[in-house]
Parts: sequence; C-alpha cells; structure tokens
Amino acid sequence: DVAEKGGYPDFMLKEIHEQPRVIRDTLAGRLVGGALSIDELDLTVEELNLIDRVYVIACGTSYHAGLIAKNLIEGWARIPCEVEVASEFRYRNPIITPTTLVVAVSQSGETADTLAAIRDARVKGARVFGITNVLGSPVARESDGVIYTKANKEIAVASTKSFLGQVVSLTLLALLLAQVKGKLKTNQVRFLFRELADTAEQVERILSDTSAIKEAARACVDAKSALFVGRGMGSAIACEGALKLKEISYLHAEAYPAGEMKHGPIALIDEGFPVIAVATKSPVYDKVISNLQESRARGATVVAVATEGDEEIRKYADHVIYIPKVRDAFSAITASVPLQLFARAIAVERGCDVDQPRNLAKSVTVE
Ligand code: G6P
Repeated sequence: DVAEKGGYPDFMLKEIHEQPRVIRDTLAGRLVGGALSIDELDLTVEELNLIDRVYVIACGTSYHAGLIAKNLIEGWARIPCEVEVASEFRYRNPIITPTTLVVAVSQSGETADTLAAIRDARVKGARVFGITNVLGSPVARESDGVIYTKANKEIAVASTKSFLGQVVSLTLLALLLAQVKGKLKTNQVRFLFRELADTAEQVERILSDTSAIKEAARACVDAKSALFVGRGMGSAIACEGALKLKEISYLHAEAYPAGEMKHGPIALIDEGFPVIAVATKSPVYDKVISNLQESRARGATVVAVATEGDEEIRKYADHVIYIPKVRDAFSAITASVPLQLFARAIAVERGCDVDQPRNLAKSVTVE
C-alpha cells in the first residue's frame, strides 16, 4: 500500500504531486515545426474554421474545467461558448447545427450523463470532441476526435491531476481554435504555448513549500461552512476549490462570483466565517480586493491565494498563500493547486478518508 502511494500518506497527495508531470506529458509533442498541432481531432482546418458555437458538457470537476475553457475559447478564439452539466444538457433542446462543436470532458470517459449528451448531440448533427483520461473509453470511442489528458490512472475519488490535465488540454484546444480562426498568429500561439509549458515548473514551486496552505487550513478547520470567491477566471477556480473542500471534508462550501456576494452570501458572514478568495493579479484584481474589504468588515476570516510579490494583499487577508506570477489565462493551473492542498489539509485535520469520501464514486456509470 505504502509503495503504491509512492511514500505519500494517501493517493490524493501523490496525485497532486504528479501534476507537473501531467502538464509536461499533456503538452509533449504538440508544437510541431513551430505550430500547434492536435492531429487526433480529425477535422480539417476548413471544418474547424466553420465552427461558430461551442458547448462544453461535463459533470463534477470536469464541468469546472469547462468553466475555465469558456474564458479561453471566447477570449482567444472569439467563438461563443457555453458550459453545461451533462445531466441538464441532455434533457433540454440546445441549439445545435452542423457548425456546433460539442466538447465532452470526462476523466473516466464513462459518465452516463456525459455519454448520453454526446450521443444526443451527434444525432442532432454536432461535431463532438472528447477530452478524457482513459484510452479507448466510451467517450473516446463515441467522439469525432479525442484529446487524452495523460494524467494516468487516478485513484483518489476527488479529481486533482485529471482536472489539471483537462485544463491544459482545453487550453490547447482554445489556442488551436484561435490559430485556425486567425485570432492569434502562429508566433503568438507559440509564445503562449511556451508560457503554458512553464506552468509545470511553477506548480513544482507551489508544491515545494506548502506551509502557508497548512496554516490557512488550520484556521478554517472548525468552520461549518466556507465561501470561495473570485472574479473572471478566479470565479471558475473558486468553483473547483469549493467542490474539493465539500467532497473530502464534508464541510459545506459554496463558490460565488465575488461581485455577486452582496446579493446574498454576504448575509452568511459573521465573526470567523471563512472566505477563500482567488485574488491573483488580473484585470479584476482591484474589484476582488474591494469585495474582500466588504467581507472583512463583517468579520470574515479571509484566506487569499495571491501573486508572489503582492504585499498589499496582506492588508485585506488574514492568511495569504502566494503563488508564482502567471498570465491570467493560465491562472487556473497554478491557483487550483493550493486549493486542492487546502481542502486536503482540512480533511486530514478533520479525520476524513481523503481518498474515499462517503457517498461518492470515482465514476458514475448510471444516471
Ligand atoms: C464523479 C467523480 C468526480 C468527477 C465526476 C465526473 O462525481 O467523483 O471526481 O469529476 O464524477 O466524472 P468524469 O469521469 O466524467 O470526469
């Protein structure tokens, strides 16, 4: 058992530490002759160029990877993109035409709702790309093209390394669409790709010193509930942070776009209520700071994931977890890692089985 866990106390921690490798393996061989290439997608440049609408469909953590992808696909490729949980998508009547691309994201490649949504989308004439971790899985077989996330087998029920593999794969897809649509030039794509590749080393740095994360976790361990907030990319990152915490620590956690707090969640805040904020340097940094001030004024214990070198944030947060500076587009890759470790640290302190949380299954093959 110890050998299987590679010396780590649980699979979750082992898998969190595998993430730099997952980033490197997912990117390996993608830059061919200076241009981005994803041959497996099996669509011609002309066909890709016709795509005028994207739906990302998924469940659980994979859905959160989709929320991040929406920012990138719309931001870079300028194609309208919607993200939807598969169990909703399959029972409504989404607008699908032959120029619609459906991107189905599934670690296991066998989630019942995601598969049903793929089948339905194909009947309606969409092109379907799968993003999965499992070779030859139903999602891979039933899609028009597939990107494998190269996470290797994930054992902990709560997904970590697969999520990062999904985010990196979706980032590649967004870059490819932008390249094909002529919204980014080949040299810009190359430049971004290199920065993306650098995140492997940045994640290694985050993993090399986790003391601030553990300290922040200790401050929140007795809470009954926690709020995860952010704006823009940070809002999507917060969703996955909250999910990780509720999955493995059984602490109620909710994610909210920080600007929306005043329309409800701020009523929850009283002395010591944990507010975990993604407050990295981004175009909306100042807005996030003002939301933190509002929380702090009502007694919240604020934990901020912030950019290295940002001393100002200390004025607005009780605990600061610093991460290396990356462009906002890549912030999900770096900022998600401390939130995974934060959730795990709380779960461990609370005596929970982090690898096998109650009531949850690794893959959900029935509806
Ligand atoms: C289950 C797992 C989650 C996962 C979700 C979707 O709920 O516990 O970790 O995110 O299913 O699974 P998939 O394999 O489709 O990504």
